Amino acid sequence: MNIAFVASEVVPFAKTGGLADVSGSLPIELTKLGHSVKVFMPKYYSVDEKRFNLKHESWIGKIEVSVDKKIHRVEIFKGLLPDSKTEIYFIDSPTFFHRHSLYTNDEDEDERFILFSKAVIELLQKLHWQPNIIHHNDWQTGLIPILIKANIRLEEYFKNTATVYTIHNIAYQGNFPNETFGKAELDLKYFETASVTKENERMNFMHAGISFADVVTTVSEKYSEELQTPEFSFGMDAILNIRKDDFYGILNGIDETVWNPEVDSFIPYKYSLKTIADKEKNKVELLKKFNLPFDTAIPVVGIVSRLASQKGIDMIISSMEYLLSLDIQWVVLGSGEQQYEKELSEIAQNNPDKFSLYLGYSNELSHLIEAGSDMFLMPSQFEPCGLTQMYSLKYGTVPIVRNTGGLADTVFDWDENIYNGKEIGNGFSFNDYNGYALTDAIERAVKSFKNKKLWKKIQKNGMMQDFSWRKSAEKYIEIYKKAIAKK
Ligand code: ADP
Ligand code: GLC
Repeated sequence: MNIAFVASEVVPFAKTGGLADVSGSLPIELTKLGHSVKVFMPKYYSVDEKRFNLKHESWIGKIEVSVDKKIHRVEIFKGLLPDSKTEIYFIDSPTFFHRHSLYTNDEDEDERFILFSKAVIELLQKLHWQPNIIHHNDWQTGLIPILIKANIRLEEYFKNTATVYTIHNIAYQGNFPNETFGKAELDLKYFETASVTKENERMNFMHAGISFADVVTTVSEKYSEELQTPEFSFGMDAILNIRKDDFYGILNGIDETVWNPEVDSFIPYKYSLKTIADKEKNKVELLKKFNLPFDTAIPVVGIVSRLASQKGIDMIISSMEYLLSLDIQWVVLGSGEQQYEKELSEIAQNNPDKFSLYLGYSNELSHLIEAGSDMFLMPSQFEPCGLTQMYSLKYGTVPIVRNTGGLADTVFDWDENIYNGKEIGNGFSFNDYNGYALTDAIERAVKSFKNKKLWKKIQKNGMMQDFSWRKSAEKYIEIYKKAIAKK
């Protein structure tokens, strides 16, 4: 099968969150299954051409892309995903992509990703490569199916191409004013059928992706169910209900060549289930780095997160006064909303022996926290999949999570999960989004931590779980086949 995988961020070239991890791993796994895969992403200012040995594809020349009736000329760079044969193509438009961050609030944010989507469609033709599948992700690429369907010339070239659209996070929809239809040069008539509303006269990229892709997926089964309810859908439940026969949930995998304590080059002491005693050496190093005193009996709770309301940060902050009365140390790595950064900084300043914070983005520290913490907290309001709780499970760092989305599909509460006499729990979880439920789960974890034998059993249940990409990649292939058959 020929598979074009289109995403706005891909590890290791550019990343703001889990989408990049997925886009850097799934295509490699699909390649290993014998398929021909090409990945496409924007060439942001931060993409390091030299470090990744990217080549300017001058033979392709400048590709002309029309946005808002202006012609833009983009150039193409090419590289490989690390340690793989999977090719990645970069769309280079300094006008649109040389900005201070991957995503912006600039007034041409819509144009940036219209250009990206159109450029990918043109590039596929220049490459004389007809994909069987275009797998496109999140709002930034949501327009791809309608851009193809709305153009007879493209319909012909892509007549054997099916589209699969993956929702990684429905909270970010690419919701723009009415004028954006014009900028995309899309006729409004496509958006006027019963199943495809114009969304209050606004151009919603995600709505378009859900409406026009042959098959729609999201990144866990539980989230696929949640998304069909108003509580979780941010207004998209109606269209998702219309598409429900073509809508599937596939849990993400994790890259076990990177997120694995046996081979992790970022951590000072590698370990496995057999040598789990060495995990504590990482705890010593972690606490040194974060300027906290070491005490084997005091559990360290780690957090690595975007500081956004999705992640339950407000609930952590409002419960902190009580949580600081418990015998726990906190190691927090994150960046995001200013208010959260400010409040967490104050907590750190006032509790230097208990609570340590690094504001910013650090891949290295994120690995050290996964390895050196005893517990990992992720009390998300909603969580499409969540990768960090899976990383924690692999590192024997017991997750404490709210029972939602991918967290519910991967973390099983120790106290509640005894099936057929087998204790399958690998963490602690709670249902209600409030401080009582959160602190109750943390206190249950702390209590279990004191019983070393029991704790090891919980760690083992997590470390033995299989989160490899292989399983998920095979499921995607099944979905691709369905999409092709449907088309
Ligand atoms: P989301 O994509 O919603 O942010 P995920 O759990 O799917 O959540 O993925 C988050 C990814 O981003 C993980 O790889 C995590 O380690 C990483 N990450 C989040 N915040 C930081 C940070 N401040 N520094 C380094 N890595 C981070
Ligand atoms: C999104 C979600 C996260 C998911 C990631 C990768 O960023 O918030 O839950 O793990 O995408 O699919």
